[in-house]
Order: sequence, then structure tokens, then C-alpha cells
Amino acid sequence: MESLQIPYRAVVVGATGGLGAAFMQHLEQDPNCEQVIGLGRHSDPPVDLLDESSIERAAAWLREQAAEWDLILDATGILTIDGQGPEKRLRDLDPAVMARAFAINAIGPALLFKHLAPLLPRNRKGVLATLSARVGSIEDNHLGGWVSYRASKAALNQIVRTTALELRFSHRQAVVVALQPGTCATRLSEPYRSRAPEVLSPEYATGRLLDVLDRLDAEQSGSFHDFEGQRLPF
Ligand SMILES: NC(=O)c1ccc[n+]([C@@H]2O[C@H](COP(=O)([O-])OP(=O)(O)OC[C@H]3O[C@@H](n4cnc5c(N)ncnc54)[C@H](OP(=O)(O)O)[C@@H]3O)[C@@H](O)[C@H]2O)c1
Repeated sequence: MESLQIPYRAVVVGATGGLGAAFMQHLEQDPNCEQVIGLGRHSDPPVDLLDESSIERAAAWLREQAAEWDLILDATGILTIDGQGPEKRLRDLDPAVMARAFAINAIGPALLFKHLAPLLPRNRKGVLATLSARVGSIEDNHLGGWVSYRASKAALNQIVRTTALELRFSHRQAVVVALQPGTCATRLSEPYRSRAPEVLSPEYATGRLLDVLDRLDAEQSGSFHDFEGQRLPF
């Protein structure tokens, strides 16, 4: 990336996922990136979104490595839960499945923001971005279905906006955004992508998303963008 301090430091949470691993690859190959740390349930230190203390410990560990981190990417998320795919209609709703979607897609990222946002630089551009999904857009919902995934991503979008507003004064150049990667060939989308108009490779989508993040500044903090840089409605 060109718009961050050179060299810059990056963290990817969910580094084992299809998109997280592709982000790691780009960042490892970027000569401007001095250090990139991949975190997840099996990293050292581990980060489990369902265990706040693991997030707190990882944040403290990152702080020991460096006082500030320029790029913090959350590439975690879930769609199929305990073998159950997204609901087609309301009668398929299972409260336990819905609660898990919220725990991983909304509350987990909120806890990441709580503990990792303080690591963003205070006096230069820093980016805190999370992978949301277009189907989380309320305005763009013309099909129905997938209520747990949609609602958990809509909640995530609200958490992004609220975090951006809170950081406005403490981290004036912070860019806090939700991203839509497009339908990508990963484990998460595998059972559902046969009807997608186009399926992107994780390498391509994450490369485009990093270009989008490079072009955003604090004025756009709190918004939602797709891999082509298009601003999406919440
Ligand atoms: N692929 C697409 O077409 C698409 C489209 C729109 C939006 N997205 C969004 O992009 C994000 C990444 O998706 P992906 O396609 O890369 O999926 P993926 O390959 O299934 O990766 C999901 C990642 O989330 C992590 N994760 C799940 N539960 C966790 C927990 N409790 N604690 C910590 N990490 C946890 C997984 O870790 P483990 O390896 O430990 O399981 C994995 O690293 C998701 O938020 C998804 O909603 C994807």
C-alpha cells in the first residue's frame, strides 16, 4: 500500500480463511509492509472471537511488538453454522443458530474493534477494516431470506459506523470501513455460489480491496465499499 506510513505494519485476523490468507499473501509481498501478523484460533497468541480474553491478550501482545499498527484487517466470519446453511424463510429460523451468527459476525468484530482500535496510529492514516457482505445492506435487500447472516452483517455495519464516529477525535486520520469482497471462491461461499453472476479468486478480490483502502481517507470513515471502490448503502 502507498498511503500508509512507509514502512507500515499490518495485522490480519482470520488469517486462515480464504480471504484472510489472500490478504496475508499480498501484504507479505508488499515491499512497503515491514511486518504482517496473521491471527486466528490457532495462531500464537490465539484469537477466538467467542473468547474476549483471547482478543485482549492478543492486543496486549501486539502492543509489545509495536506501539502502533497501520492496517488492521478483520477477515473472519461465518455463514454455515453447525452444518446449517442460511435460512430460506422465517420458519427455518433457529434461535441458537441466529445467536451464533451474531456472536461471530457482529459481536466478535465489535470486540476486535474494542481491543485493537487503540493500536491505530494517532497522528497519521490508519485503517481498521472488516469484511461485511452486500447482503447485510438493508436498503439493497430485494430478495429476502438469509435472515441471520443478513441481520448479523447489518449489525456489523452499524458497529463499523459507530466505531468510526467514536474514533473521529482520538484518531483523526483513521479510516474505519466495512468491505464487500464480491462472491469469492472460498470455503464459506462454496455451497452457495453456483448462481452467482461472477466468482472472484480470493487473490484478485483482496488485491482490489487493498487498492480501495489505499484510496480512502478519514472523510470516508464509517462507510461501506465493494471491491471496485463503489460506496454501498447501509
Ligand atoms: N467468500 C465470499 O464470497 C464472501 C462474500 C461476501 C462476504 N464475505 C465475508 O468475508 C469474510 C471472510 O470469508 P471467507 O470467504 O474468507 O471465509 P472462510 O474461508 O470460511 O474464513 C473465515 C475465517 O473466519 C474465521 N473464524 C470463524 N469463526 C471464528 C472464531 N470463533 N474466532 C476466530 N476466527 C473465526 C475462520 O477461522 P478458522 O480457520 O479457525 O475456522 C477463518 O479464518 C466473512 O466475514 C464473509 O462473511 C465472503
